[in-house]
Amino acid sequence: KIVVIDFGSKHNQLITRTIRELGVYSELHPHTVTGEELKSMQAVGVIISGGEEENVYNIDSSVLDLGIPVLGIDSGAQFILKHFGGSSELPANFSTIETDSTGDNVKEKLRHFVENICEAEASWSMKTFIEIEVEKIRSQVGDRKVLCALSGGVDSSVVAALIHRAIGDQLTCIFVDHGLLRKGEVESVVDTFSNQFHMNFIKVDARKRFLDKLTGVTDPEQKRKIIGNEFIYVFDEESAKLEGIDFLAQGTIYADIIESGTATKEVIKSHHNVGGLPEDMDFELIEPLKALFKDEVRAVGAELGLPSEIVHRQPFPGPGLGVRVLGEITEEKLAIVREADWILREEIAKAGLDREIWQYFAILPDIRSVGVRNEKRSYDYAVGLRAVHSVDGMTADWARIPWDILEKISNRITSEVEHVNRVVYDITGKPPGTIEWE
Ligand code: XMP
Repeated sequence: KIVVIDFGSKHNQLITRTIRELGVYSELHPHTVTGEELKSMQAVGVIISGGEEENVYNIDSSVLDLGIPVLGIDSGAQFILKHFGGSSELPANFSTIETDSTGDNVKEKLRHFVENICEAEASWSMKTFIEIEVEKIRSQVGDRKVLCALSGGVDSSVVAALIHRAIGDQLTCIFVDHGLLRKGEVESVVDTFSNQFHMNFIKVDARKRFLDKLTGVTDPEQKRKIIGNEFIYVFDEESAKLEGIDFLAQGTIYADIIESGTATKEVIKSHHNVGGLPEDMDFELIEPLKALFKDEVRAVGAELGLPSEIVHRQPFPGPGLGVRVLGEITEEKLAIVREADWILREEIAKAGLDREIWQYFAILPDIRSVGVRNEKRSYDYAVGLRAVHSVDGMTADWARIPWDILEKISNRITSEVEHVNRVVYDITGKPPGTIEWE
């Protein structure tokens, strides 16, 4: 493997990802990694990837004495020079690989380093990943049992499919239907995991329970808390009914565990993940996706035979439609947002934009306004449409959906969804907006 040491560059994840695209396994580690650790990881090459400014980090100098090739980028290269004498003439046995900043060129230089200098074996593919993980899971679990909280999202779905491939019926999945999913999702999850994969699959119908708890609650943070906590209670209760479970499978992925660069992420909303389970549960954790980037997770899912609607599912907040119905959540409002969202999804797919737009959905603000329908005054809801381009959800730009498609969506929503007489399109970026409205 090739280890990329985070020395402050913004591009570290991209570099790691690019090396994997070359078929060579690569991991990103903090600058505190030691030579000893690199040795035990059997690294065949190291990249010290710094930013353009001089930085304050230090690296365990034994990293440079392992006898494996080291590539320094920007301040990473400065660090190496300083270590070997501090002058701008190159020490013996050194060479420069100059890069300019165009993407292709960087990829070629990385290829040269990885293939020719490190002579790293190109054995990384999603097929081999699955083979290796299946063996690992089998030997870790033996004849014991694993539990998985399935949300229908990409990560938990792929984890379930992978573990099922490894140990079949020793896996049980619990799927909590909290009544806050989009139209068709419950059916799709049940169909995939129960009917097609024939998993031990428990669907808990907790719709009423969630709605009861949410009655009268309008504060967004409070709504998130209630949904998050209720999920834990329901999951706890269900898992307590099962016997002899030793392991809990989780869909942790690489992005969840790497603290990249120096970016500090300010928490603007409490992203309380449904599926975020309490830490004191009495299970050993299995997290087979924790080395994978999101697109690799999708590729594994496709390789395991999951349907494309799950593999390419757009990001969806844990509290689901709970954050898309503004103000108090009621059955009627949920039905409206579900139908409007369905129409939006249909039309975006028909227009061939479904893979192009990162996330798109309908919102129901707590607003009613006057309109006319069949020559009569109406006093009904406005529906908001949101569609954004983004890379990681931290920033976003609103999607320039062609007018005629927006027109069609608006016409369909106002004529097909009861109690809606107005459709608005959100043209705010993030910042200053957020992607969701709550
Ligand atoms: P915001 O609204 O903060 O959303 O700009 C950024 C991205 O995160 C998703 N999101 C959530 N995801 N649990 C999640 O797992 C949450 O509570 C949650 N809230 C927002 C949102 O859909 C967008 O993709």
